[in-house]
Amino acid sequence: MKIVHLNGEYLPIDEARVPVNDRGYLFADGVYEVTPAYRGRLFRWDRHLDRMRRGLAAIEIGYDAAALREVKEELLARNGLTGVPVAYVYVQVTRGIAPRTHAFPNPPVPPSIYGFANEYLRPTRERWEEGYDAVTVPDQRWARADIKAIALLPNVLAQQAAVNAGVNDAIFVRDGVALEGSHANLFAVFDGVLTTAPRSNYILHGVTREFVIELADALGIPVEERAIQIGELRAADEVFLSGTTTEVRPLVEIDGAAIADGKVGQVSRALFDRFLEVVSGD
Ligand code: PDD
Repeated sequence: MKIVHLNGEYLPIDEARVPVNDRGYLFADGVYEVTPAYRGRLFRWDRHLDRMRRGLAAIEIGYDAAALREVKEELLARNGLTGVPVAYVYVQVTRGIAPRTHAFPNPPVPPSIYGFANEYLRPTRERWEEGYDAVTVPDQRWARADIKAIALLPNVLAQQAAVNAGVNDAIFVRDGVALEGSHANLFAVFDGVLTTAPRSNYILHGVTREFVIELADALGIPVEERAIQIGELRAADEVFLSGTTTEVRPLVEIDGAAIADGKVGQVSRALFDRFLEVVSGD
């Protein structure tokens, strides 16, 4: 059975119990991280740690997330995931357990830590080459999308809208600007220029997004970080998503209309090829 981490203990998932007064349960008062592990090695943990530290500081939870590295490695080991090509380790930190009242518990209570690990089965190359489709949805999130908060209701509703539409992904649009996916960042290619929304409070500063930009720099692909209007996105040469649970995923159809010729583009392919080389250690 799957072994999870709960407040310092490793136990079978069926035995893990969270008190109803956990502020994660009552208020979604916490932050999380999902870190990939390639053949058991956490990828860019330092970046995930930085982001979690920023999130904890922003919502004023006093917890040193550095301890989570050991938790993540232990979860991989205890679930037999050190040898698999790709696994994901999830960890969340909530403000802890206290009777329901909106303001922080005073004095503070110990934060609650929960983590689990899963194997990820990358789609076959044939599937990847077919490309993926998406719908656009109005961005109804709060104005701190840069905090990786466990409060994901708008992301849940967006992804369900994609399911209801029979497509793979959803893209958030705010004031006519295409920002990111429901659980991934968004890139487009215009005349050979790789373009993505700039880092702001309206997107999550994806670790994979940063990695893709570095790969593009190394491959000599020009990169521009600027707002992408929804009309521009529809007329892009290529569109793809990036994320820990998405890697590089080409979108060939948005809102029922093909992107360019409806086929996966060269820039997306070159970036994904290089991505795979780096993460597999070649
Ligand atoms: N989501 N944007 C959003 C809204 C996300 O939720 C995510 C990741 C990303 C990509 O970030 P990164 O490259 O650091 O994974 C962008 C995680 C994987 C999730 O919610 O499961």
